[in-house]
Amino acid sequence: MDDFDGSQSAARMRDAEAALTGLRERFETPGDAIYLDGNSLGLYGEDAAETLQRAVDQWRDLGIEAWTEADPPWFDYGELLGDRLAGILGAKPAECVAANSTTVNIHTLVGGFLDAADGTEVVVNELDFPTDHYAIRSQLRARGLDPDDHLVVAESEDGRTITPDAVEAAVSEETAVVFMPSVLYRSGQLLDVDAITDVAHEHGAYAGFDLAHSVGAVDHDLHRAGVDFAVWCSYKYLNAGPGAVGGLFVHEENFDVDPHLAGWWGNEDDTQFEMRHEFRPAEGAAGWQIGTVNVFSAAPLFGALDVVEAAGIDEIRSHSVSLTWYLVGLVDERLPECSVGTPREAERRGGHVAIEHPEAGAVSRALRDRGVVVDYRPPNVVRLAPSPYYVGHEDVWLAVDELRAILDEDAHEQYRTGEETVT
Ligand SMILES: Cc1ncc(COP(=O)(O)O)c(C=O)c1O
Repeated sequence: MDDFDGSQSAARMRDAEAALTGLRERFETPGDAIYLDGNSLGLYGEDAAETLQRAVDQWRDLGIEAWTEADPPWFDYGELLGDRLAGILGAKPAECVAANSTTVNIHTLVGGFLDAADGTEVVVNELDFPTDHYAIRSQLRARGLDPDDHLVVAESEDGRTITPDAVEAAVSEETAVVFMPSVLYRSGQLLDVDAITDVAHEHGAYAGFDLAHSVGAVDHDLHRAGVDFAVWCSYKYLNAGPGAVGGLFVHEENFDVDPHLAGWWGNEDDTQFEMRHEFRPAEGAAGWQIGTVNVFSAAPLFGALDVVEAAGIDEIRSHSVSLTWYLVGLVDERLPECSVGTPREAERRGGHVAIEHPEAGAVSRALRDRGVVVDYRPPNVVRLAPSPYYVGHEDVWLAVDELRAILDEDAHEQYRTGEETVT
């Protein structure tokens, strides 16, 4: 990093030159905070709020007619949003739908693909977000398969990252599904989706991904990569609001796989209201919808996607890479007592950076108290997500400057709870 300029003025200059500068005015940051937690909950944006309000108004003005007469009709929300999500995920429109929540989608997809596969094992990894394991273990149990034997956990060599080799070591002829995150929630490593998909396919298994930490921040090419299925949420980088509708992808080659959790919202449209007791899944991802779409948790996604589309996912990704590169550079330059737990190569980095410090919990609380919103992931990670939608290089500079001041003043000491690991 010979040409790295860690000055505040250089940060300002980078922001002045950045292509996405205009986006941040469309979002509200609570107080005067520097908000680096967009990978937990993205910020309120006026575009999302407008399409939410539109749905509320339609409820008032149209009542039940809004299912078919509203613009766009509520009845079609899942498919319409799916078409647009496909555009940012490298998928065909029929391969995506907005529906359910991430955890529910893991249940139905892993369950469905487990039934369709020859093998009986699911490969995950030891650094996964817990809900993935909870859901898959319960799917295994429901089939009379002991999760302790049939959930195979790929190991990390360094406690931070997962390599395709580690996945390969866990895969066998018994593998039904390899289910991995695109980005690890703690370290921020962007996994090699193509390589992991190939490993799964070479062993006759399906490849599924949890895109919670990449959708809206990373450009994907799901169809071309041959990914079999994927799930995600839209309340992180997509900024569609707390608990906003989830989404799922099913590759068109797998349109014959049956949803594990069937429900009338996944029935083909033409016969849904004939009220037959025989389920006829709609063609494609739409067949994996379960119950009535939660209109008010899906409506904001229309506006949120307007923002993504206007900026372009490639532009968003390159701004994100610039912000995380800059953050890593500043940590190296100004925070020698911290280490960076995120891979340094851009192609292995998602949208956030893990700064490791033995007292990460206390440091995180001190930062929040000083108006820098970050989160703590035990045992030693301060997660900083400079969301490309509303965070600039100068915000990153100010956050690191505040962290420097906290460490210089030992200000984090008063935030110790006594429960955390201090090594
Ligand atoms: C990787 C990952 N998967 C799933 C979830 C949560 O799923 P749900 O939206 O069902 O609560 C999270 C939440 O942060 C996550 O980080």
